[in-house]
Amino acid sequence: MSRTRFGDARHQFAEVESTQTIARQLARSGAAEGTVVVAEHQRAGRGRAGRAWVDRPGESLLFSLVLRPVLAPPRVPQLALMGAVAIAEAVEQTTATAPRIKWPNDLLLDGRKFCGVLAEAASDGETVALVILGIGINVNQREFPSGLQDRATSLAVELGHAVDRSILLDTALSRLDHWYEVYRRFGFTAVQPEWSRRCALAGQPVVSGGVRGVVLGIDDDGALLVRGDAGETHRVVAGDVDAARH
Ligand code: BTN
Repeated sequence: MSRTRFGDARHQFAEVESTQTIARQLARSGAAEGTVVVAEHQRAGRGRAGRAWVDRPGESLLFSLVLRPVLAPPRVPQLALMGAVAIAEAVEQTTATAPRIKWPNDLLLDGRKFCGVLAEAASDGETVALVILGIGINVNQREFPSGLQDRATSLAVELGHAVDRSILLDTALSRLDHWYEVYRRFGFTAVQPEWSRRCALAGQPVVSGGVRGVVLGIDDDGALLVRGDAGETHRVVAGDVDAARH
């Protein structure tokens, strides 16, 4: 049976609390897989680990996608990794830049973050019934909140000109549609090489939680592999990773 293409059902808002919240409400009312909620501005955008995702109206791409995968709960983060690959590819196709991915799913240009991906799931404990995949892309902003200037960027800053957000959205939805289908049919193993060739931290010294060492890459489940000082390999399954200071 053919399925609806991502974005065929599109809900566009000037302002919302969070596109994640609206997408979840629509999904609970029966919205089909591939339904998209897009907003020009979020009053309370959510990032990973309880962080805020802040925007100024009309500068970003802010959207959430309804997914209905059949998945065990530990695999949900793989959908965010898949999302990062799809968005990296969309940005490459529309802007001729080459984003890197910082584990697990931050997109970087010139070492600074311009895109984040958030996967929020609802499950009955054994299987996942619903995942809302949220994407925030800094597209046309030229200024960033104090404290973020060194770590954040946008496509406009990197390219030196404004970017058409609707073309980028259409391309992003098409690449998400493609990579989600690959993931559903072949699993994360089929996505892993595309994530790996964009790995921002390969070979670099990092700290992640209690682990310190050099990044080897990710495995077929999406876990980060870090080689410790004694040559041992650590598998990091969740959290953030930062460049180690010597
Ligand atoms: C992160 O890097 O911490 C993830 C950021 C995800 C932000 C997007 S913006 C659209 C969607 N709605 C939200 O409230 N969050 C996600």
